[in-house]
Amino acid sequence: MEEYVLKSDDFLVSLTDEKGVILFANDDFCEIAGYSIDELIGKDHNIVRHKEMPRAAFKDLWNTVKRDEIWNGYVKNSTKSGGHYWVYATVYPMYDNVTKLKTYMSCRRKPSKQEIEEAQKLYTTLN
Ligand SMILES: Cc1cc2nc3c(=O)[nH]c(=O)nc-3n(C[C@H](O)[C@H](O)[C@H](O)COP(=O)(O)O)c2cc1C
Repeated sequence: MEEYVLKSDDFLVSLTDEKGVILFANDDFCEIAGYSIDELIGKDHNIVRHKEMPRAAFKDLWNTVKRDEIWNGYVKNSTKSGGHYWVYATVYPMYDNVTKLKTYMSCRRKPSKQEIEEAQKLYTTLN
């Protein structure tokens, strides 16, 4: 299926609750993934999961943010129409002192062609 190659100024942001349920996604995220905001809010973030992504990558993501550390990594995501796109993601654990709620925010930018190739190679060995 077709690959969407991110533009250098594409910047995809999403926010989840402690369990990975989507609370917010910005316009770039919605447009590139092919969903309206209403289709995303309340859904599990695995809605964009690509079947080739190794479980180990998400295990590492969750283990890291649950330790209140920042996770960085390459992610291949699916679009609603069955295409895909690669991102370099940074996931931040956040704590709101007023509501006492923990949330996670992911900010994603364009990875280089070489970075994609290296991640692809690594992920094939993990699957
Ligand atoms: C803030 C945040 C952003 C995430 N972004 C993605 C993402 O873009 N793509 C993805 O497949 N999983 C993402 N995840 C991980 C998913 O929550 C989930 O663990 C993953 O899709 C694997 O799904 P599964 O455990 O149901 O197999 C994100 C998690 C958090 C906390």
